[in-house]
Amino acid sequence: MFKWVNPKTKIEAELSVPEHVAIIMDGNGRWAKKRGLPRIMGHREGMKSIREAVRTAQELGIRSLTLYAFSTENWTRPEEEVSFLMKLPKQFLETDLKELHEQNVRVLVAGDTSKLPRETREAVDEARERTVANTGLNLVFALNYGGRDELVQAMRSIAVDVQSGSVRADDIDDRMIGERLMTHVQDVDLVIRTSGEQRLSNFLLWQSAYAELHFTEVLWPEFKREHFVEAIESYNARTRRFGGV
Ligand code: IPE
Ligand code: IPE
Ligand code: MG
Repeated sequence: MFKWVNPKTKIEAELSVPEHVAIIMDGNGRWAKKRGLPRIMGHREGMKSIREAVRTAQELGIRSLTLYAFSTENWTRPEEEVSFLMKLPKQFLETDLKELHEQNVRVLVAGDTSKLPRETREAVDEARERTVANTGLNLVFALNYGGRDELVQAMRSIAVDVQSGSVRADDIDDRMIGERLMTHVQDVDLVIRTSGEQRLSNFLLWQSAYAELHFTEVLWPEFKREHFVEAIESYNARTRRFGGV
């Protein structure tokens, strides 16, 4: 529960907090374009919003925060932009890992890191290893992540076990598939997407089966604490039925 006074209505409310929030951080390019800047400047500015979102998630008591940083489809962008995006995780961790670690944050990565440049891979591996025993916020970076790719990997790994005889086809159930996904985190309760687009773009397809969706027009570099809390307020106004009545 999170105590919160709505700045518009001045009404105090107790918000129940979703355990797992996932954010599609979209609109960096448009933010830059609006200012006549190159797209990469939008990505740089977006890092500040990442910091603020992590702080807010901790303040609210969210268990896991998954951030969509680079999709399996984002490789089709101009090479200059891709190479800039690939440098950001290392830059971010160089400045922030120490503090995250002190705050007991556990850093995780979902996605195929084998395709990342070596320096990027080493930086994220170091962050994972250093924070592996931390018990605070789970901060998951979806990096070279695709929901379909994740399901393909899971199915391959099950197929290997079926072939070797350690798993029978009848034993395959949704728990087994869930356990073989890259994220190893629980189902998503709330997906937030910035920039006005209303689609999932291959994000957490399996884990979002019953997620609530919150779309905001705010571009990612402008997404601040108040917008995050707004999303939590909107989540509180929903009735989750999970197929029941
Ligand atoms: C999101 O912003 C960041 C990544 C996809 C890496 P975009 O770069 O997609 O920004 P827009 O959608 O072009 O404005
Ligand atoms: C989704 O945004 C990927 C990330 C935020 C990392 P995109 O901007 O790549 O998605 P589309 O192309 O608009 O669907
Ligand atoms: Mg986009």
